[in-house]
Amino acid sequence: MKKILVTGGLGYIGSHTVVELQNAGFEVVIIDDLSNSTIDVLDGITNITGKSPAFEKLDLRNKADVADFFLKNEGITGVIHFAASKAVGESVENPLLYYENNINTLVYLLQECKAHRVENFIFSSSCTVYGEPDTLPITENAPVKAAISPYGNTKQISEEIIIDTCAVSKMKSISLRYFNPIGAHHTAEIGELPVGVPQNLVPFITQTAAGLRDELLVFGDDYPTPDGSCIRDYIHVVDLAKAHVVALQRLLLGKNESNFEIFNLGTGKGSSVLEVVQTFKKVTSQKINYRIVGRRPGDVISVYADTAKANHVLGWKAEKTIEDALSSAWKWEQKVRKL
Ligand code: UD1
Repeated sequence: MKKILVTGGLGYIGSHTVVELQNAGFEVVIIDDLSNSTIDVLDGITNITGKSPAFEKLDLRNKADVADFFLKNEGITGVIHFAASKAVGESVENPLLYYENNINTLVYLLQECKAHRVENFIFSSSCTVYGEPDTLPITENAPVKAAISPYGNTKQISEEIIIDTCAVSKMKSISLRYFNPIGAHHTAEIGELPVGVPQNLVPFITQTAAGLRDELLVFGDDYPTPDGSCIRDYIHVVDLAKAHVVALQRLLLGKNESNFEIFNLGTGKGSSVLEVVQTFKKVTSQKINYRIVGRRPGDVISVYADTAKANHVLGWKAEKTIEDALSSAWKWEQKVRKL
């Protein structure tokens, strides 16, 4: 049984990926600093899979702790690296925190991978690297645009660090550029649990339906799109999680065509903010108070993935619908709020 280290494995995407890894027969070791997750997530994973993954609370900013961890945990064959901070606004206010949390930690992790000959590395990247794209849908060949936020910059720099590392070592890596992950596991054992006021659309919608927020603010209806609101490619988190297992197996079987590959992970279909609100109402029969306000600084107009490379080269395709994703997000919110 192959042992895989999952950093940030108790987080939103990390926890869903741990479930899929265990379902596929991998042995999982999680490290997480619990800064944006809780230990209860371990129970959720165990309830779904019938198996409790190994877990260590560890802050990757402590270089010595990272070195210690690798000394104590022999036999790791691959790493899926989720652990990072991801709030765009916070990154603008505190850029050094983001460079420390997202860049220093990556360097320490790669140093230990090198020292312990761990040569398979999956990286959590983001469609944010494309900025406002010139053409839609977005292929992996689209240019990386100057980052709008320090958060976005950390994703670009991280990819460059990994490329440079792969060029001079036996390291093989796949960077997965996520579009907008939403939804929860169908069992409602795990899901997205933002700390404080949600910044992202779907948790804001579910919290509004649950009565925690008075109204959803829709950021702009004067964009050049059919209904004037922004368009994103919303992908079910379970589909996204499965892509990590496929990418890892690709590296482990040596099927990669180069030592650094990039795949867009999306559905290929764009939905507007107002369409998401309407679909949520349709699938849950919940009322959502919303109000149109001004544009949010830094928002791009429209992004959705060209999925051809992921479909044909990686051999993965998003299978779930936005309806599935929104109803699972609502089921999860109801469970968390005991509704
Ligand atoms: C954002 C980041 C992205 C990051 C991701 C991580 C920006 C520009 N992009 O994606 O880099 O990888 O989060 O989580 O910040 N919306 C509302 N009202 C709300 C919340 C959102 O109208 O209360 C709208 C937004 O304007 C946007 C859409 O919903 O059009 C999706 O927003 P969000 O869920 O925050 O994701 P992104 O901005 O696409």
